[in-house]
Amino acid sequence: MSREFIATRVATLKPSGIRKFFDIVATMDDVISLGIGEPDFTTPEPILEAGIEAIRNGETHYTSNAGIYELREAIAELLEEKYQVCYNPVDEVVVTVGVSEALYLALTAVINPGEEIIIPTPCFVSYQAEVILAGGVPVEVPGSMENNFQPEPGLIEAAITPQTKAIFIGFPNNPTGAVATRETLLEISRIAEEHDLFVISDEIYDSLVYGVEHVCFASLPGMKERTITLGGFSKSYAMTGWRVGYAAAPADILGGLVRIHQYTVMSAPTMSQLAALAAVKHGADYVEEMRLKYDRRRKLIVSRLNAIGLETFMPQGAFYAFPKIKCTGLDDVLFAKNLLREERVAVVPGSAFGAGGDGFVRCSYATRYKEIEKALDRIESFVKRCS
Ligand SMILES: Cc1ncc(COP(=O)(O)O)c(C=O)c1O
Repeated sequence: MSREFIATRVATLKPSGIRKFFDIVATMDDVISLGIGEPDFTTPEPILEAGIEAIRNGETHYTSNAGIYELREAIAELLEEKYQVCYNPVDEVVVTVGVSEALYLALTAVINPGEEIIIPTPCFVSYQAEVILAGGVPVEVPGSMENNFQPEPGLIEAAITPQTKAIFIGFPNNPTGAVATRETLLEISRIAEEHDLFVISDEIYDSLVYGVEHVCFASLPGMKERTITLGGFSKSYAMTGWRVGYAAAPADILGGLVRIHQYTVMSAPTMSQLAALAAVKHGADYVEEMRLKYDRRRKLIVSRLNAIGLETFMPQGAFYAFPKIKCTGLDDVLFAKNLLREERVAVVPGSAFGAGGDGFVRCSYATRYKEIEKALDRIESFVKRCS
């Protein structure tokens, strides 16, 4: 063929480093996967029942573009109750196909061609890709273990150019488990105000924090007006397969997101929206039960990894540990490949998560306690052989 039919920005996009590993894992037996970023729990019973009932009741049609009003209202109430930030369910909340779609909507709505988006890294693999797909330029600002993987306001400010449009933060963080402190977020809010920047805040793990507070960025003084808050159901309520999330923002901005949403997906799946409504109304105790289990696994994995000799920061949110593997003499990709081949444990190389991730691997502890124990025994044998 003489012409390139696929658009350059798509052709040059790197495939997700996570997917590559899962493709290998899928061909192997007896693998313990610490690779997957999704709860091992099945969706709690009342939420399942609400979804089944919705189907049986014939809730099989489109909903309004922005989502079922009662669900938007419940999301707005939840955000007000938890963070004292007020969104009007009429025109400031849209229900999306997971936070994945919300990310796409937010970036597509905000970015003009060539505008730069500052992203503290390591971060969720989709952020840079979505910025590129929306025609923007991702500018990575790496964090460090020495600074507890906090976003670094000084580096963020230094990365600002006349093309900078927004700062894109994701805390509690995938892959490090860091939770941004109020102090750090206040610094970022000062930068946003002084340089007139927009902020996109992915707070999908907001309910999964351990002994620290999660600060909703939009709840900081003056920030609601310049922030899109992204939140979801996949992680807290163990609802990855239902594909529901949301974006909340001031009406003039949210209107832009809804326009894209209505032309791309129309509305999020109806039965999933009704299940999500049940999650907001009846899910809190189940979230707490799962959070306590994650916390127990977190303590196990972090203490064992450190004892094995892989220095590991104590994560305060989400369900990931992010050990430093440099002492093995391997880089993170080789570490993950060899560990998988020799010990049948899947982890994800840290470099998949952007600048600052190389030399680390991500271990998800959204896996049964006994399996984590077994995986740690195997990692121990592997590390012993390396040294
Ligand atoms: C930080 C972060 N944001 C967004 C997503 C996407 O989640 P959803 O299932 O809601 O599309 C993930 C999934 O791993 C994530 O880790």
